[in-house]
Amino acid sequence: MLKNRRHFGQHSYTVPSPTSYPFQWFWDSCFHAIILSYLDTAAAKAELLSLASKQFKNGMIPHMIYWEDPHKYTFPSIPWGKHRTSSIVQPPMLAYATWAVHQKDPDKKFLSEMLPVIVKLHKYFLTIRDPYRHHLAGLVHPDESGEDNSPRFDSVLQLKPKQTIDANYHRRLILVNRYRIQQFRIKKHMEKFHWVRDVPTNAILTVNLLYESLIAGELHEFNQATWARQQSEEVAAAMRKYMLEGNVMWSTMGRNYHHIEVKTWAIFAPLFGNILTPEEAHRLVSGHLLNKKEFAARYSVPTVALNEPSFDPKGFWRGPIWMATNWFIYLGLLNYGYEREAAKILEDSLMLVTKHGLREQFNPLTGEPMGAYNFTWGGLVLDMLARQK
Ligand code: GLC
Repeated sequence: MLKNRRHFGQHSYTVPSPTSYPFQWFWDSCFHAIILSYLDTAAAKAELLSLASKQFKNGMIPHMIYWEDPHKYTFPSIPWGKHRTSSIVQPPMLAYATWAVHQKDPDKKFLSEMLPVIVKLHKYFLTIRDPYRHHLAGLVHPDESGEDNSPRFDSVLQLKPKQTIDANYHRRLILVNRYRIQQFRIKKHMEKFHWVRDVPTNAILTVNLLYESLIAGELHEFNQATWARQQSEEVAAAMRKYMLEGNVMWSTMGRNYHHIEVKTWAIFAPLFGNILTPEEAHRLVSGHLLNKKEFAARYSVPTVALNEPSFDPKGFWRGPIWMATNWFIYLGLLNYGYEREAAKILEDSLMLVTKHGLREQFNPLTGEPMGAYNFTWGGLVLDMLARQK
């Protein structure tokens, strides 16, 4: 973590991987702050304040910030943002991360710097990303989910379950260009090309609204705290209304909430959001997480069910284990008291990073490491260990 820290003027941040990902990413920085809260709280605060400094006027925080000239790197940087940033977002983990840092190093000044940023960010998700005020935020591009090539987005990209990484990249690039040509008009773009209400993003939004409420309460901003708690409840209720089928929540496509019935780890994200009843959670865990045909692979937890036609143990977001998704599922299981099942995820995660180092992904069938080196997300195991029951 500390080796991946970078300084730029008064700002500092952490690169997810020095070789593969040399910039600042939005949800990565939130994970970094959670990890850094155990190592260096000043660095954790600086990481989040750097993100805040690039917030757009409308509240969006870009998913990529190129502090340095991106042309210095071979990383494909698309000229889509005005101020050396991208123009899409990632799941809003900011309030959660802010609170995590405050827990380790109580600091009301830091909270009061972050609160207005968090309020604006959440309002962005609840208004601009939800033009008809149904309390579900829409994504304009698969990369906004943080799971760039996930098969959840195949149908909207008009791709078959078996595909090449190049074909997927090509479609995602076309979508970026369309967005740019539309001059980033979100409602129009969603109506014409890509309107996905994703389960993890909305589950994360519900949780982060609750953390906004805690932060506002701590600062005696009681009206704001009440507003955020109510919005959190509204998002959770909308998820139940539009996404729930039996005990599974599906991401939806288009204005009319067409269910995208592709089984990915996303079906467990509602556990993180505390959105299911205990009975629904029980059926979800026993029927899917512990099902050997689906998610009970040799190593926990594959990002795509083993029996999905798109499952590929080496495909980018199409099967391999990622530490952030393990972290979300782990916390979700603990929310519902599944301590034994959570312990298995922690045990596998710890074994994988101890044996292979901090790699980006792991094959769920063999444990083989893949992708970027010195990849920060493995540090989330530290947080999992600290929460162990
Ligand atoms: C990949 C991941 C994304 C992450 C980025 C930087 O694009 O899909 O979630 O933010 O790398 O680590």
